Amino acid sequence: MQPNPERFLKSLHDLRSIGAVGTGVVRPAYSDKDIEARKWLAAQFRDAGLTPYFDPVGNLFGLAGDGPSLLMGSHSDTQPEGGWLDGALGVMAALEVARAAKEAGGPAISVVSFQDEEGRYGVTTGSTVWAGGRSLAEADKLTASDGTTYAEGRAKMADLVSGDFLDPGRFTGYVEMHIEQGPYLDTSGEAVGVVSSIVGIRVMEITLTGQSNHAGTTPMHLRRDAFQGLAEFNQTLNDRLRNVVTPETVWTIGHVSLTPNGASIVPGKAVFSMQWRDGDTDRLKRMEGIIRETIAEVAGARGLELSIGPMIGLEPVAMDAQLQSALAEAAEAEAPGKWRHMPSGALHDATSAARHMPVAMLFVPSINGISHNFDEDTREEDLVTGLKVLARAVASLG
Ligand code: GLV
Ligand code: MN
Ligand code: MN
Repeated sequence: MQPNPERFLKSLHDLRSIGAVGTGVVRPAYSDKDIEARKWLAAQFRDAGLTPYFDPVGNLFGLAGDGPSLLMGSHSDTQPEGGWLDGALGVMAALEVARAAKEAGGPAISVVSFQDEEGRYGVTTGSTVWAGGRSLAEADKLTASDGTTYAEGRAKMADLVSGDFLDPGRFTGYVEMHIEQGPYLDTSGEAVGVVSSIVGIRVMEITLTGQSNHAGTTPMHLRRDAFQGLAEFNQTLNDRLRNVVTPETVWTIGHVSLTPNGASIVPGKAVFSMQWRDGDTDRLKRMEGIIRETIAEVAGARGLELSIGPMIGLEPVAMDAQLQSALAEAAEAEAPGKWRHMPSGALHDATSAARHMPVAMLFVPSINGISHNFDEDTREEDLVTGLKVLARAVASLG
């Protein structure tokens, strides 16, 4: 099987142009640009001899016939300020491998672009619902930070839906190529990472409510300042987590909304996201306990009302040993001595697919470890090496 690097790179740049903003891309799930990209992808799938299929949440499959096939892909939605490769690389590399496989007379490769991997409405929502990790009725109630619901989001694609959710049992496995999104491969000068596992994640929304008041006349000791509560919580939490975490554990307050958000008003309300990730389920649980205890203490001491929304999450997942070996052998053939096994700190749709089939992932370096940022980039030679490793590994599966 001979993948065509020029055809692959051209497709990747064509997709980049839909929603391009400077060097980055803005194509959040169910936005006009996301839907435009999915329609374009469907046409690409058809040109490659694959049958496009939109499921009820907008996951787009390119099916290689009705029989069993290997599923490959990633996602084409982006972060609110996204890079051009996060997700797009895995979809276009999968499409190129599918084209090369068709030209070589096999194996059967189906391609997918999952919807809302970036979690505008939750965490990897499209693949999670497809895989049965969350019911559609539950997912429909998820709300984005702009107040829209998942039901409203997916309604924007209703006219494209081909039919019900596809049976995951028709796929023999799932292989996803992705940028690393971290610094390890770039720093070591290696070309390829064979993923060993994907971290688990927990996310919840916390609301602190105090009282908005005049910022000039309200004495400090009488304030019920929601931002001060958030700031103290953050500081105290960092201290308390120190004894529980490993160097790989991460936690983030990435979205904050202050009300009324005026320079001369004591903030009466702070709504913020609390997210944490680790490869160990017990540690995720211990962190949850510390988070809940700390925020309750801080809110109590400052006279703030506390409300904690539902927690959603994904469990840590190990990659399939046999598929990892195929990727490792292909990596050694294409980039001798310049690859490693490594865990993924980013989430991926492979976690959802793993509920039903063996899964594996391949990483290529991210320049300076930058991702979820317009500056995200990867050297062209690394993109092509990744494509070749992927194609070689798939061909070796027979
Ligand atoms: C997905 O990109 C994530 O890891 O947040
Ligand atoms: Mn991604
Ligand atoms: Mn991402």
